[in-house]
Amino acid sequence: MKHFAVIGDPISQSLSPVLHNEVYYQLGIKASFEKIRVQPHALSEFMATHQLDGFNVTIPHKQTVLPFLDKIDEAAKMIGAVNCIFGNIGYNTDWIGFKKALQLNHVDLNGKACLILGAGGAARAIAYSLIQSGVSSISVNNRTQSKADELLDWIQSFSPNIIKTKSPEIIANCTPVGMWPDIDSSPNYNINKNHILIDTIYNPIETKWLKIGNELGAKTVSGLDMFIAQGLASMDVWFEEAISEKVNIDLCKSVLRQALDSV
Ligand SMILES: NC(=O)c1ccc[n+]([C@@H]2O[C@H](COP(=O)([O-])OP(=O)(O)OC[C@H]3O[C@@H](n4cnc5c(N)ncnc54)[C@H](OP(=O)(O)O)[C@@H]3O)[C@@H](O)[C@H]2O)c1
Repeated sequence: MKHFAVIGDPISQSLSPVLHNEVYYQLGIKASFEKIRVQPHALSEFMATHQLDGFNVTIPHKQTVLPFLDKIDEAAKMIGAVNCIFGNIGYNTDWIGFKKALQLNHVDLNGKACLILGAGGAARAIAYSLIQSGVSSISVNNRTQSKADELLDWIQSFSPNIIKTKSPEIIANCTPVGMWPDIDSSPNYNINKNHILIDTIYNPIETKWLKIGNELGAKTVSGLDMFIAQGLASMDVWFEEAISEKVNIDLCKSVLRQALDSV
């Protein structure tokens, strides 16, 4: 029996065990998945003593765990953060999750003008995903302008022609604005029915921002799809096979919806 986990601090709110246990159930895999609170001062000891077959890493360890790893895969190196560890090698499956979520929702990123709201870790993984998907332009709006400039410089360092302020077709919210319990807030940007809106937040599944978008008639993608896809991409790494292609994603979604409804 294999043992997996997600580590972070705080961690009690994580829905990862619900997702992973549902996949084990669907595919008849004998494995366990737990959430482990690892406080910042305890990360070093955890990395030296854990017996896990693989684990996800969430806030606040996505960058601080890097020095404890033997190797970091190419994308995680570029992004500067990992969320998935296997054999003491670090991977980033957030950018894969974003890309897969859009594929599942039939959103073609190629040639599109994109706007990222936020400039933290998720924004960076999503910027990487947008570049890999051949978008025509990326602009960034962030509360702290210096952080937006930092992200724009980083994007420009390996994709010099992509930074343009074009009217966006696709907008990705990479801030926690609208996340439970702050459910009446919404990012400050004028949207219309022609925009494709992607949220990274999955609690609530339909944020106020997405609700406004849906009412206007815009296409919207919930953060739940990205959450599921990053988890499945992590399983592909740990089991060294395409678990993500064997899973019934609609069933995963409905189990996660129930779990969110009951918290
Ligand atoms: N669905 C998924 O699989 C998935 C995966 C990863 C992350 N996420 C979600 O993505 C979101 C961002 O996570 P992160 O790791 O990127 O966090 P982060 O590194 O802390 O970055 C947060 C960003 O949001 C901005 N921000 C925070 N509070 C704000 C406010 N009240 N008004 C305006 N801007 C605000 C920050 O701006 P400043 O620079 O001004 O501080 C920063 O740019 C979270 O909601 C997280 O749950 C989802």
